[in-house]
Amino acid sequence: LHTIEEAIADLKAGKAVIVVDDENRENEGDFVALSEKATPDMINFMITHGKGLVCTTIEKDLAEKLDLDLMTSNSSDPFGTAFTVSIDHRSTTTGISAAERARTIQAMLEPSVTGADFKKPGHMFPLIAKDGGVLTRPGHTEASVDLARLSGAFPSGVICEIIKEDGTMARLPDLEVMAEDYDLKLISIEELIRYRSKLESQV
Ligand code: 5RP
Ligand code: ZN
Ligand code: CA
Repeated sequence: LHTIEEAIADLKAGKAVIVVDDENRENEGDFVALSEKATPDMINFMITHGKGLVCTTIEKDLAEKLDLDLMTSNSSDPFGTAFTVSIDHRSTTTGISAAERARTIQAMLEPSVTGADFKKPGHMFPLIAKDGGVLTRPGHTEASVDLARLSGAFPSGVICEIIKEDGTMARLPDLEVMAEDYDLKLISIEELIRYRSKLESQV
């Protein structure tokens, strides 16, 4: 595994990193990139090599600003992943192409944007991070927002689960091979929790 600092350096440079959660949790690896660096090429990389669901992680304030209600108010998901209603930017056609998904993400970050700028339902899935990030909830949602904050970027990430060629989930040994093949940094949420705890104990 790489260090959190190495991952932050790549994120700032516009690269994706791989983030694994605990093997007793989902035991999955997600590609994570900064929303402010979301490009058509980045989305295309994620849907080609990750093959999971591309989601944008946001904080509660942005969800409120964009009028994004939760997808369901009585979640029965054991991990409680906070999906909101899905959206497309109003300028999109199908909403699903790599370029249009990147445009929807970029639009969400515009200072003057409002809920009226999006069509619902759409093809981009916002997820709301818990306040306190990974120190509150050890999910990929919080990890990506924390990594964005640590990178000094807009607090939002683009994430996508990594599924193997045969359709099963990529586990740590598979993710190590992938990180090597694509020259990507691989970190764990466990390490991110340690990193943040240490930073916070210094203040
Ligand atoms: C969205 C998901 C993923 O598991 C994603 O990693 C976010 O969830 P969490 O914050 O629970 O890890 O379900 O496709
Ligand atoms: Zn998941
Ligand atoms: Ca996850």
